Amino acid sequence: MSSVLKVDGLRKEFGGLVAVNDVSFEIGEGEFVGLIGPNGCGKSTTFNCISGLLEQTAGSIEMFGEDVSYLRPDQIQNLGMTRTFQHTRLWRQMTVIENLLVPPRGQFGSNIADQIRAVLTPGSNPSETERLEKAYSVLDQLEVPHMALNLTSELSGGQSKLVDIGRSMMGDPKLLLLDEPVAGVAGPLAMKIFNNLRNIVNETGISILIIEHNMDFILRQGVDRIIVMNEGEILMQGTPDEVRGNREVIEAYLGASGEPQEELE
Ligand SMILES: Nc1ncnc2c1ncn2[C@@H]1O[C@H](COP(=O)(O)OP(=O)(O)OP(=O)(O)O)[C@@H](O)[C@H]1O
Ligand SMILES: [Mg+2]
Repeated sequence: MSSVLKVDGLRKEFGGLVAVNDVSFEIGEGEFVGLIGPNGCGKSTTFNCISGLLEQTAGSIEMFGEDVSYLRPDQIQNLGMTRTFQHTRLWRQMTVIENLLVPPRGQFGSNIADQIRAVLTPGSNPSETERLEKAYSVLDQLEVPHMALNLTSELSGGQSKLVDIGRSMMGDPKLLLLDEPVAGVAGPLAMKIFNNLRNIVNETGISILIIEHNMDFILRQGVDRIIVMNEGEILMQGTPDEVRGNREVIEAYLGASGEPQEELE
């Protein structure tokens, strides 16, 4: 299996705080991998470094065989990586389909010039009809074509998360980073979202790295592998079976919350 992402010795400091410390892992082509760990352990910061929003203090990041350690977010996205953010960002007065037709905000860097450059990049501007067809096929994949003409302001939190995932899929990414896409989503819908993502990985061969903070939940959602972080470092990586019952993992979770994570059923 060829590697689509290789993070090597990643470190990120904020002033005196070491948020990420010597984190190394690889994601293979067509892999569905969970990134999990207690609040504040450095999951989102890891995503921010990988997607170019933050410059790492040390370490390197390779994507599709290319060193992207010091590339801008729009350059990294043009290689075929898309991410979502922990807090869903949708245009609330637009319909679901309209939201899918607009490039995700924050994806192309923080200024307008970056966003315009990304939109004008050759190959990233297919015809209106093609984009519309693509948007409907993405909604089909997520099993929510009936939501196309709803205003996003009328959606539940879980449905908004689905639209956000849909937007991230619009550019046919080869690598998708999802930051807690089911946080706050009711159990059955959360399971359906994971199930759809599993199917998308199987059918298209893309790779997905997904942050989820509920250990009990992710252990049952069909990911190939789980990377467990704690206090900025990788505690262990393994299959769900290997992670389940690992003493260090259990202690990290018990230590963080004082009691086992609640079941999401
Ligand atoms: N921009 C920033 N400036 C300063 N400190 C930050 C910044 N971003 C994150 N941190 C700190 O870095 C640490 C890791 O934060 P991060 O958001 O990566 O954790 P997380 O694992 O995603 O947590 P959660 O599960 O709550 O989303 C925390 O102590 C956080 O307060
Ligand atoms: Mg986070």
